[in-house]
Amino acid sequence: MSTIENIEELPLHLRGNWAPLTEERTITDLKVTGTIPAELDGRYVRNGANPVTGFSDHPFLGDGMIHGIRLRGGTAEWYRNRYVQTPFISTPERPVIDLNDSLTDMAASKANTNVVGHAGQILALEEGHFPYVLDGNLDTVGPTDYDGKLKGSFTAHPKLCPVNGELVGFGYSLFAPYLTYLRVSATGELVQSEKITVGGPTMMHDFNMTQNHVIFMDLPAVFDMDMAMRGEMPIHWSDDYPARLGVMPRNGNDASVVWYDINPCYVFHPMNAYEDGTKIILDVARLDHVWRDSAMDFPEPALYRWTIDTASGRVSEEQIDDLPAEFPRVPDSRVGLKHRFGYMMANAAASAFEDPLSANGAILKYDLETGARTSVDVGSGRLPGESSFVPKDGAVNEDDGYLMTYVYDANTDTSEFAIFDAATMSNEPVATVQLPRVPFGFHGNWVPSAVAD
Ligand SMILES: [Fe+2]
Repeated sequence: MSTIENIEELPLHLRGNWAPLTEERTITDLKVTGTIPAELDGRYVRNGANPVTGFSDHPFLGDGMIHGIRLRGGTAEWYRNRYVQTPFISTPERPVIDLNDSLTDMAASKANTNVVGHAGQILALEEGHFPYVLDGNLDTVGPTDYDGKLKGSFTAHPKLCPVNGELVGFGYSLFAPYLTYLRVSATGELVQSEKITVGGPTMMHDFNMTQNHVIFMDLPAVFDMDMAMRGEMPIHWSDDYPARLGVMPRNGNDASVVWYDINPCYVFHPMNAYEDGTKIILDVARLDHVWRDSAMDFPEPALYRWTIDTASGRVSEEQIDDLPAEFPRVPDSRVGLKHRFGYMMANAAASAFEDPLSANGAILKYDLETGARTSVDVGSGRLPGESSFVPKDGAVNEDDGYLMTYVYDANTDTSEFAIFDAATMSNEPVATVQLPRVPFGFHGNWVPSAVAD
């Protein structure tokens, strides 16, 4: 086992700006450049893997640490980083991949993938277990099973409906039933739980919601029980497992799912999905495959559009751009509805993370109406994370808003919280907040105080 002392031998996901932090901090004396818009009242929170022991076998297996900024009245009141207090923090020697323990104990989450606000709660999410509830200071309240109604895992990528406030998601499992559809009401009650028949246990990282439907992505990243028994990341690519999209009404059930075959591929993250008559449009960050050659086999993703024609039963696939990009997002107000604009992180390839000094990070903006791609260039030796879009007060156009993210600066080995103008995509931020180093992570969201405080 590696230790933090022989750092050259550590895998990439534990070196450089992937290296875990060793302390939790609260900083209230924050240096701000520019002007934080006074209308922003809430928290920007982002999750990531920060192994408490300093070591993890895979980038996806570290302990969840939330990095948050509290904005109110034009000021940055605090920055905090906090572990999600899962059982692995108090018992770090507990094995992560263990079929008789952490893979079946739904409270044994790493809680490291996403963090969302819904129904008065901030939820830290990881797809194999229960959600963890956090308070407004990012301290852990504990896991939730929705009053005993949640029997299995809960995805890290639920979709929050901007029309009726529902949080729709799913859970997947190594054991039958492999897939369960989950629907949580606007008031935080788990109101629907449906077993969905699929061909086997696959890693279903994300899914899609439209105004009336959900679309499951049943793709050839399959569980391998032997790998799990050996304590390895238990997923690999299968040339035999068919790639399919499953369309179901949001209040539907197993019998109402219509499955559509697609070309083999993997999608970690869709940008958005919406309905257009009898068609369903899905914009996704598509990879040719995943985990075929090794547990670190991640080909470069790029933006594609799938169009499901529910009348003809056909799915068409179109590559929108060949520029490598990931972490696609639309404004929260457009989730499930027709979007014109989408935002991505440019070049999430390992080489950029390997040598951030040589990187030139950028936030991309796609205009799906005109086909134009513009970007915010965050500068030499600097890399942004996933961006969250927050609308301006009185926004008229879909892109009247701000893009928020943490930016790592390899020149100084520090980070900043940055707010950019999504309409102009100016390289000059609206505001930045200077921070100590914030390690690279996964997903973040703006949680307005009106949603959870
Ligand atoms: Fe994700």
